[in-house]
Amino acid sequence: MNVDVLLGLQWGDEGKGKIVDYLAPNYQVVARFQGGPNAGHTLEFDNIKHVLHQIPSGVFRSGVHNVIGNGVVLDPIVLREELEALKPYGLALDTHLYVSKKAQLILPTHRLLDAAYEQSKGKDKIGSTLRGIGPTYQDKIGRIGLRVGDILNADFEQQYDALKAEHEKKLSYYQHAYDLSEAEPKFWQAIDMMRKMKLVDSEYFINQHLESGTAVLAEGAQGSLLDIDFGNYPFVTSSTTTAAGACTGLGVAPRRIGEVFGIFKAYCTRVGSGPFVTELNDETGEFLRREGHEFGATTGRPRRCGWLDIPALKYAATINGATQLFMMKADVLNQLDTLRVCTKYRLSDGSEIDYVPFEICDAAIEPIYETFEGWKTDLEGFDDFSQLPAALLRYIDFIEEAVDVPINIVSTGPNRNETIIKSKEALV
Ligand code: GDP
Ligand code: IMO
Ligand code: MG
Repeated sequence: MNVDVLLGLQWGDEGKGKIVDYLAPNYQVVARFQGGPNAGHTLEFDNIKHVLHQIPSGVFRSGVHNVIGNGVVLDPIVLREELEALKPYGLALDTHLYVSKKAQLILPTHRLLDAAYEQSKGKDKIGSTLRGIGPTYQDKIGRIGLRVGDILNADFEQQYDALKAEHEKKLSYYQHAYDLSEAEPKFWQAIDMMRKMKLVDSEYFINQHLESGTAVLAEGAQGSLLDIDFGNYPFVTSSTTTAAGACTGLGVAPRRIGEVFGIFKAYCTRVGSGPFVTELNDETGEFLRREGHEFGATTGRPRRCGWLDIPALKYAATINGATQLFMMKADVLNQLDTLRVCTKYRLSDGSEIDYVPFEICDAAIEPIYETFEGWKTDLEGFDDFSQLPAALLRYIDFIEEAVDVPINIVSTGPNRNETIIKSKEALV
C-alpha cells in the first residue's frame, strides 16, 4: 500500500483539517509529518467546530489510528490541552493516538526564544505564531534538541535543565524578560501524562501498516509557500511542508508515495509577513475576510486576502507532484459579479513572467489578471459536480488547464458534508 499525502498549496489555512476529516474513513492511519502547534486545523460537523493543533484530523473517525510523526515539533502543554478539550467526545484516544519517540519536544523556553527573536527583528519580523517552532527546529538541526523518547530516560530532568540553561543564555543576550512559573509546572504535568501514552517508533509502525496493505494518509500542516526551502524565504516556517516532508517526517520511502492531494482556496490568504502579489487592501479584500471568516484558527489574527495566484499555485503543484487538486471555499465568492485570477507577474522593468522569481521578497511585482464572470449562485444544496453553475465550471476548467492538474473536489462550506466530488474512484 502507499501513503497518500494531503497538503496545502498556498500559505496555510486552505482547509486541510476539513478534508482530512472527510477522507479519513478511507484510511486506517492518519499521520502528521511536520509542523506543530503553529497549525490550526478546523473540522466542522454536527454543529460543532473543532480546532486541532497537533493531533491529526482523523481522530473523529472511529477505527482510524492517528500518528504524530517524527517530523513534528510537539508542545506537551498544548497536547494536554487538546486532549482535555476532546474528552467530552469519548474518542478512543488511549488506543488510537500514537506519538513518535523521535518527534522533537517544544520546551517553554523555545516559546520565549521565538518571541525574543521576533522582537529583535523589529519591522522585519516573520509574523511567527510564537509557538516556539523556529527555535525547536533550530535545536533539532543543531543536534541539541530533546525528543519525545527522552522523557522515558531516568535523567530527563537533567537533560531538560541543560537545554534550558542554553536557552537562558540566549534570552539573556536578547535581554528578554520572562517568567516560567506558570509554564514549567504545566510542562511537567504534561510530560507525566505523555509517559502513559503510546510512544512508538512511528517509522516502524507506519511501514508495518504499509506492508500489511493498510492505507495511510499523511496530513500536512502550513502550506507549500511557507516551506523552508521553496517558500518565500525568510518569511516561511521552519519545516518541509511539501510532499518530500512526508518521507522524512514519517520515515516512508519516496516510492511509497501515492496520491498527492493539493488543497487550495479559490482565492488566497496569508497570515504573517511576506510577499503577497495579489493582496487586496480594499473593499474586496475586506469582503473576502468577512465572507470567508478569515481570522487565524491558532492566533485569531486577521488573514490577509487576495485573488488566486496561478504562478504560485503552479509552482506549488510542481514541487509537490500534486496528482489532484481540491478547491476550497468556492462559496465565499458566490456573490461576486466578477473574479480575477493572476496569470503572470510584471516586473519593474516591464517584463512579464509566469514563474515565481528568486527575488519574490524584494522585487516590486505587479499581478497581471484575467477577469472571470462570477456565478452569483448560492452553492448550498449542490452535490453533483457536473451540475455546478456554468461560470464556476469555467473557473475550474481554467485553473485545471493553467496548473495542468485535475480538480477533484470543490468545497462549498465548512461542514464535512459541503464537499462535492468529481470522481470518487480517483480518491481511493
Ligand atoms: P487548515 O489549517 O488548512 O486546516 O485550515 P483552517 O482550519 O485554518 O482554515 C480554514 C477555515 O475555512 C476553517 O474555518 C474552516 O472551517 C473553513 N472552511 C473549510 N472549507 C470551507 C469551505 O469550503 N467554505 C467555507 N466557507 N469555509 C470553509
Ligand atoms: P495551518 O496548518 C497559516 C505562518 C505564520 C508566519 C510563518 C512562520 O493551520 O495551515 P511559525 O510560527 O511557523 O514560525 O510562523 O508561518 N504559519 C501559518 N500560517 N497556517 C498555518 O498552519 C501556519 N503556521 C505557520 O503566520 O507567517
Ligand atoms: Mg489553519
